Amino acid sequence: LASADLVVVGSGFFGLTVAERAATELGKRVVVLERRAHLGGNAWSEFEPETGIEVHRYGAHLFHTSNQRVWDYVRRFTDFTGYQHRVFTVSKGQTFPMPINLGTICQFVGQHLSPTEARALVREHAAEIDPAHVGNLEDKAISLIGRPLYEAFVRGYTEKQWQTDPRELPPEIISRLPVRYNFDNRYFNDTFEGLPVDGYAAWLERLADHPLVEVVLEVDYLDVRGLVPAGVPVVYTGPLDTYFGDAEGRLGWRTLDFQQEVLPIGDFQGTSVMNYADSDVPWTRIHEFRHFHPERDYPEDRTVVVREYSRTAEPGDEPYYPISTARDREVLARYRERAAAEPDVFFGGRLGTYQYLDMHMAIASAMSMFDNRLAARLTEG
Ligand code: FDA
Repeated sequence: LASADLVVVGSGFFGLTVAERAATELGKRVVVLERRAHLGGNAWSEFEPETGIEVHRYGAHLFHTSNQRVWDYVRRFTDFTGYQHRVFTVSKGQTFPMPINLGTICQFVGQHLSPTEARALVREHAAEIDPAHVGNLEDKAISLIGRPLYEAFVRGYTEKQWQTDPRELPPEIISRLPVRYNFDNRYFNDTFEGLPVDGYAAWLERLADHPLVEVVLEVDYLDVRGLVPAGVPVVYTGPLDTYFGDAEGRLGWRTLDFQQEVLPIGDFQGTSVMNYADSDVPWTRIHEFRHFHPERDYPEDRTVVVREYSRTAEPGDEPYYPISTARDREVLARYRERAAAEPDVFFGGRLGTYQYLDMHMAIASAMSMFDNRLAARLTEG
């Protein structure tokens, strides 16, 4: 640490992008501290040893962006396959395409509808609730898409995500429920989409592979912060509340539990992600990882499936999605004030700013932190 020009805490996409920029653009020596035993943060993946199938250890990661600058940047470190994500859902014994589109609605009502007819039907159902008198998440959802679609596709899934009856959840959790009045069932509508040809780990390792960047694993910054020489800037991508010893209280997160199994069959569900909308099925979705890479030579008699379960994070759990209640937002404002008073520390990434960021957003936000604030700081004096 004594010889570093910059210390980066956390080796996720945010931290590694900042480190690469500082080393490549300015020739600065960067030390990246990572408390886990591997680099890469939550996008990390590994090849399941029995089958050789790539599994995303912290939940399925699909790369997509409409940001040309990010797309040009990431392709310096990896090529992408032509994978296009599509999701299906099981509701009361039937399988439907997601997000809700004209195909879903036609199948649901069991007849052919034009876009205009489907729109009119949903509008008629949604009129049940006056948007001015929405008291909870259920009312809000019904005012957006009507009760039949809500009950088939939203109620059970939401209840499992939050482990709470949607009538007891605040309406602010959803601002919109997308319904497409055409047959487009692509999950993302970004310009660019694909999966890294040789996997996330290889991509992340290449991003970190610079002679001036050293990644030190299994070191928690909070244990060694006293060793960073005064005046050396620190980019901190760990949890904001933990940095301040939870002095203003803890920020709320949801976490996920993953149950992984190798099955002795070639194909379990015929697609990569199947949601389960009914409340009597305990998992929210099943991922079958072979389907992310149909171009690979995977075994034909075995497959890897991962069931996903959702719940509120307790101390010690991985924080995955910010809950962002009104209380969380007050606590966050107080931490932001404290953060603004730390002249040498730049807070970034999804944990350091308490916001959900897709990979392309984490990369774009790291690039703008470097361009707008960090580069000047590293070259001053
Ligand atoms: P990230 O969490 O990756 O990295 C932070 C790193 O800091 C971690 O490695 C952590 O161990 C380390 N750290 C924390 N505190 C530390 C300390 N005190 N000392 C040392 N190290 C410390 N995005 C997308 O584009 N498509 C997708 O499909 C998905 N899917 C998805 C699923 C799930 C379940 C989640 C939770 C997230 C996604 N994402 C996603 C988002 C993606 O994971 C996210 O954009 C990146 O992880 C953000 O990178 P960061 O560097 O900000 O955080």
